[in-house]
Amino acid sequence: MRIAIKATRETDCVCDVLILPFIEEGSNPYRKLKPSLSRLVARVWNHEFSGKKQEVLLVPAPEDIKPERILFLGLGKKEAVCPEQMRQAGGKALAYLRDLGLQRPALSTILVTGLKLSPADFVEGALLGLYQYEKYRSEKQGKKVAALAVLDRTSRELRRDIKRVETLAAAVMFARDLVNAPANEMTPAGLARVAVSLKRKALSVKVLEKKELEKLGMGAYLAISYGSAEPPKFIVLEYKGSRKPPVVLIGKSITFDSGGLSLKPSDNMEKMKYDMAGGAAVLGVMKAAAELKLPVHLVGLLPATENLPGGCATRPGDVVRSMSGKTVEIVNTDAEGRLALADALTYAKRFNPAAVIDIATLTGACAVAFGGEAVAMMGNDKRLLDAVRKSGENTYERVWEMPLFEEYKEYLKSDIADMRNVGTRIGSLMASAYFLYEFAGQTPWVHLDIAGTAWIEKDRPYLPKGASGIGVRLIYDILQKR
Ligand code: BES
Ligand code: MN
Ligand code: ZN
Repeated sequence: MRIAIKATRETDCVCDVLILPFIEEGSNPYRKLKPSLSRLVARVWNHEFSGKKQEVLLVPAPEDIKPERILFLGLGKKEAVCPEQMRQAGGKALAYLRDLGLQRPALSTILVTGLKLSPADFVEGALLGLYQYEKYRSEKQGKKVAALAVLDRTSRELRRDIKRVETLAAAVMFARDLVNAPANEMTPAGLARVAVSLKRKALSVKVLEKKELEKLGMGAYLAISYGSAEPPKFIVLEYKGSRKPPVVLIGKSITFDSGGLSLKPSDNMEKMKYDMAGGAAVLGVMKAAAELKLPVHLVGLLPATENLPGGCATRPGDVVRSMSGKTVEIVNTDAEGRLALADALTYAKRFNPAAVIDIATLTGACAVAFGGEAVAMMGNDKRLLDAVRKSGENTYERVWEMPLFEEYKEYLKSDIADMRNVGTRIGSLMASAYFLYEFAGQTPWVHLDIAGTAWIEKDRPYLPKGASGIGVRLIYDILQKR
């Protein structure tokens, strides 16, 4: 969908539907428009339509104005209107219009601007809400919205904000595409190809192959890959938007997690193609940062591999040596993500990072604890944790901190190695993070567990079911505020 900013007046705008947002109660914000339209508003508002959150009503427009129809769109109570509400309204309205086959809507910004909110948030929700994954459908959904006009006296600020949300939404949808793609397409090599396609002047990409990874001593990460015929690919991206020490982003990139020899039950196993959603989010952030020329130095690490059972697969009880030198007893091959992240955390040290953020679909316990409503967060640096929390609120990709008490160390004691990769079932959300904490060292580090939020079972206003693309907007916001 194209976004056009137009200085046209509401009643002079040639479009198939004019979107008029309303809040509950208050006075009629559209009194000053042409009499025929303001009369229509007075007739409908607080009768058939009251402006409740997510309420929509489509009516034919009066004969003497250019728009063909009017969409009344509810934003709810004035006190509750906020950027997130705007995104949800944008997502809801545009999906509704698309399903009716309307292709050229226009948005009035009279009310929105009056409430000191940005129409860019509405646009962001609209773009994200129209997302569909259709690559493997022979019959594509024919209904598409061609363009959304935003009626505004083209202020430079709005132009810039809209460009930003367009680029960010594209990055989120790019990440969603990678996660929705089946695992036979999005293999480690497939993911590496996508990463390499992001290469540009300020963004370099290299892929470390198995031989080099062995030389580096990444025994923990490599242990995951032994059961698979697909070779592991350790993807390294670097974007130099500044000369300062980088922020390193590490994304869990298990392109399919069967559990390995500690095989998962078959119910829902097909979902485990989304076990690379962390890696997809990192790629999305790198893409957006490069396109928007964000003035930060960024490194992205994606330790990609499959986790399959096979003749050469790692056995429960095997001991491996990680790149850090620590030995790990792999008691459960289904706790593989932390093994890959551990070696990536060690590899990150060579960049002398200012901060490290890892993002991973790490534990079922995260989904059990938060459902789809929050990202679990743990880390070793108060300032970084606070910044992430703030960005969680800004973007509505909300995060909730869990503790890293030193007592969790006990959970990971091994009888024969430095540590084991799992404790028992209890506290496994924190124990998995504690495992990572042992490899993070002194660098400010935060771990984001997105197991509950990376995949959505039921449509939400601007999140169609399937891959959510979570993490892209969150991490971009953190970086923007640094
Ligand atoms: N990728 C899974 C975690 C997961 C589960 C993500 C469900 C999304 C939805 C991870 O590799 C895993 O299998 N974790 C195990 C760890 C356990 C064996 C300690 C889990 O959480 O069950
Ligand atoms: Mn697993
Ligand atoms: Zn996994």
